[in-house]
Amino acid sequence: MKFVRKTENTKRYVDNIFSVVNAAKKDPEAINATAGCLYGEDGKLFTYDCVYKSEAEITPAQRAAYSASPAGNQEYIDLIRDFVTGGRIKNHHMAMATPGGTGAISCAVSTCLEEGDSIIYPKIAWGNYRVICDEHNLKSINYDVYDLDDLFAAIDSVKDKVFLIINSPCQNPLGHAYTFKQWNLIMEKLNSLDREAVLLCDIAYIDYASGDPKKYFELFDEINDNVLVLLAASCSKAFSYYGQRLGALIAVNNDEEFLDHYMNLCSRTARATWSNLNNAGMLNIASVLRDHREEYETELKAAMEMLKQRTDLFIRQAKDCGLELYQSADGFFVTIRVKDNEERDRIHERLVDHHIYTIKVNEGIRVGLCSTPLYIVDGLAEKIKELS
Ligand SMILES: Cc1ncc(COP(=O)(O)O)c(C=O)c1O
Repeated sequence: MKFVRKTENTKRYVDNIFSVVNAAKKDPEAINATAGCLYGEDGKLFTYDCVYKSEAEITPAQRAAYSASPAGNQEYIDLIRDFVTGGRIKNHHMAMATPGGTGAISCAVSTCLEEGDSIIYPKIAWGNYRVICDEHNLKSINYDVYDLDDLFAAIDSVKDKVFLIINSPCQNPLGHAYTFKQWNLIMEKLNSLDREAVLLCDIAYIDYASGDPKKYFELFDEINDNVLVLLAASCSKAFSYYGQRLGALIAVNNDEEFLDHYMNLCSRTARATWSNLNNAGMLNIASVLRDHREEYETELKAAMEMLKQRTDLFIRQAKDCGLELYQSADGFFVTIRVKDNEERDRIHERLVDHHIYTIKVNEGIRVGLCSTPLYIVDGLAEKIKELS
């Protein structure tokens, strides 16, 4: 292809999600279960009052200003690091600000992998992992999140550096989460390898998980020297701050000197790509974490409860009418099991014809319960079953 570098991936980029999202927006009768954002029971994008109350105090000059460095403002970095880790990591760890969870993942990939290397990620997964693989000319190796042996076989199939993405809890699109016992086995496997292993934990939705979702971070205190853990956190989801593009990359390793060097490399990558971050966003999230933490926790609890009511209802009604779902724990989505992708396409089309907009994923159809108020969820499983 003319003008572009020889190694540029010239495969045509098509964003399947945005086309169906736009179709749903144009349909006045739409049941819109396409979004990856949380909506309230009023059908509007859910926002946290504490986030926007605090944002009103930011001055025009603060909004206009560059951030302190490509790695972000130090106060934001310190507060987001402690918020994300929840005090569960005693091992050495360092953080930087990123434009969303995507920025963290992209920085991790570009600092750790060469063209032709492999990324291991779930076979039913957030579609952007494939886009990131394509962008960097990487091979993808996929595993079944419900089968640890399959994950371990994927790890064994990579003969040099292992780069593994785990999106747990609240996996997009399945809602799957590994138990602490399973995390123990995963870490044992990575620690037993005779080669370097980078574990990228995509924890974009972790704040919406029930139980003690951060307990497995304690296992990072006992990693082998060959293991680098990277946490990719997203303010888009945690604070309903999608368009403000904020997140964090947190690196955990036994060697503090290595971490210092690694974060310095990440800062250069940041400078060379996004260069600078949303200054007002960082000031604001820092202020929420510093001065409005209790309000935030209260609002988050209410948001989780709203989401849980929707997922509980949909799962119960799906069971009653025989609509087969992948097993899920928590999260923004549930996924209908359709093993044959051609059959999935037919069902998806029929749903669109009946104003039900969902997202096609490998071997399934994702229903974004995050964007459907409870009164719409009620009866939705039966409607989908009838059209399947
Ligand atoms: C699984 C997963 N990881 C990461 C992200 C990153 O989101 P953002 O870049 O907006 O933080 C998303 C967003 O939809 C996601 O679904």
